[in-house]
Order: sequence, then structure tokens, then C-alpha cells
Amino acid sequence: MIVNGTAYRSIWYKAEIDQVQIIDQRWLPHEFRIADLETVEEFATAIADMWVRGAPLIGATAAYGMARQMLRDPSDTSFQETYDLLHATRPTAINLKWALDRCAAILLPMAQTDRGQAAMALAAEICDEDVAINASIGRHGYEIINKIAKGKSGGEPVRLLTHCNAGWLATVDHGTATSPMYCAHDAGLPIHVWVDETRPRNQGALTSWELGHHGISHQYITDNAGGHLMQHRLVDLVITGTDRTTRKGDVCNKIGTYLKALAARDNGIPFYVALPSPTIDWTVTDGIAEIPIEDRNDREITHVWGRGQDKKVTEVQVTPEGTSVGNPAFDVTPARLVTGLITERGVCEASADGLARLFPDLNSA
Ligand code: MRU
Repeated sequence: MIVNGTAYRSIWYKAEIDQVQIIDQRWLPHEFRIADLETVEEFATAIADMWVRGAPLIGATAAYGMARQMLRDPSDTSFQETYDLLHATRPTAINLKWALDRCAAILLPMAQTDRGQAAMALAAEICDEDVAINASIGRHGYEIINKIAKGKSGGEPVRLLTHCNAGWLATVDHGTATSPMYCAHDAGLPIHVWVDETRPRNQGALTSWELGHHGISHQYITDNAGGHLMQHRLVDLVITGTDRTTRKGDVCNKIGTYLKALAARDNGIPFYVALPSPTIDWTVTDGIAEIPIEDRNDREITHVWGRGQDKKVTEVQVTPEGTSVGNPAFDVTPARLVTGLITERGVCEASADGLARLFPDLNSA
């Protein structure tokens, strides 16, 4: 994606300086900063503390973390310790395990001397694949937006609502939920996006930043506004991302997604989920019972980051001293509330049959 005239991915390897670099998302949307990651501890911190975030980007970052460690020490012990450290960083997004398991399948059978370079090539491949998958999700999702646009008169925009940031910052490029929006906008379809704030981390501000840089009309709204907008027929379509989708089509995404799906169902508004295939957990059938929900730290609730009047990015406390809080970071939307899954292979019903039909090669049951 283009930022101030320069094309960026969210993570990349810069060969000239032999360095893996990321866009450090802690500072966005206020400051655009790039960070270097080198040691496995730095990679683990970057994932756990959300310098990088979003299921596909978490997977890609883990792959590069493994690769840098394999260049230093390609032993089996080092592989296992790195796997365990990175895997423990965030429990919900399955892309993390998917990427590490792919590293294991390819690297462990190799001679140790070959592992470093092979791991770097694999990390680059995972990144390139993510970009291709998301571009394809964009083309399939575009068809849904285009169909709605055809039912509108006089160039009225298609009004989408999205939750969290399933944008290019959450992936290597394009995003998942945003990819159809970028396709529609680039094809000349008028669209307008309602962007949920997404407390506590305010990932909606990242989505606003992205959409703004791409020239897409949007409004940032509180998390509680979506139901009201739907009741007043101001939303035509909801598209969100997912951190883990079960073989039966239950979708685990950022906390609050479930409430949007309920409101959409009550108002007869289509609720789609953009789903790259590495985000499917074929081992899980019941999302509510089986998917581990990350419980994040209290400070994300009691404090918020923003730009102060002195223009400095700063943290302020919003709750009384000592307030007891809870911070579940994800929730599960049952398949029955999902209109369809937009995958790189096309759109399918959120069901075991729908997913098995599109991914017979991945579905092991
Ligand atoms: O806690 P985050 O910011 O990593 O959560 C991100 C989301 O919930 C996204 O919607 C999901 O990872 C899909 S990203 C394409």
C-alpha cells in the first residue's frame, strides 16, 4: 500500500542492511515509524505487545522470527525453543501456529546447515502468498459489493461497516476485510465505510488511517453505534476479518464482532467474513467451546493512547484508580449468523459443507 508516495508492506526483509523491518503499529495513526527486529525475543515482544498485529501478519512475523534464529543457531533445540517462545505470544489467531508448523514441516527434515537460508526463503514465501490470497479475496468480495451497487440509484454509495482492523496493516498487504473495499474503490464504485472504534485498542483508528491514505470515504464511529445505523438502513453490508474459523464456519474475531453479527441479523443486513485459508482451524468444530480467547492486560482498558494537546503521543488513564477490569480480546460469532465467507477461492456458506467444497485438499476429515 502507498504511504506518502512510497509502497510499503507491513513487514519486509531489507537485503541491503540484512534486516527484517516492520511498521511499528504502536505509534499509528499518529506517527509512522519503522522498527528493526533481530533477536527472537524482539520478534516475540513485537507480536505479544502488538507492534505488529492481525492474524496473517502475526504468522508472517513468526516465520521471520524463526528464520533469523535459524541463521544464528539451526539446531533442533534452538528450533523447538523458538517455536515455543513465539507460539506462546498470542493464543487466539491460528495463523501463528500455522506458520510455525509450516516451518517445522520444511526445516526439520533438512540438514541443519541449510536451515537458515531455507527459513528466510520460506518466510518470504509466506508473505508473498498472503499478498496473493488477500488480492484474491478482494476480487471475490468486490462481486458482492458490485451486486449491491447495481441495486442503488443515482451513484449512491454502498455503505459498509467493519470492525477492528482487518486491513493491510493486519496482513502483509491489501488486508482481508478491506481488500474488497480497495477493489471496489479502485474500480470506481462509490463506497462509504463505517469504521468501528474497537475499544480497547482502537484498531478502528488504524482502519481510518488506511482508508484515508487510499482516499476512501469513511466515518469513525463508537462501537455501540452500529446497531442504530443498521436500524436506520444506513448500512448495506458488514465485512469483518477473522483470527480463527472452525471447520463448521464459526468465526472468532475481535471482541464485539458477535454483537455486530446479531444486529445485522436482526436488521436483515448481510454479514460477511473475509477468510484467508491459513486462518481455518480444521481441528476445531465448536468455536465457542474450543477456541482459546486471549485475555489481555488491564492497562488496555484503564488507559488509552492518543495525541495530547502538546502534540506528543501519550497515555492517559480513563478509570478511577484501582478499578477492577476484564479484557477478553476476541469473541466467537456462530456460523448461523454469518451470511458467507469470502475466501481466496471464492465465497462459500459458513458451514462444514461450504468450506469442504472450496478446500477439499486442506480439509482432513
Ligand atoms: O488483536 P488484533 O489487533 O491482532 O486483532 C485483529 C483482528 O481481530 C482482525 O480482525 C483479524 O486478525 C483479522 S486480520 C486480517
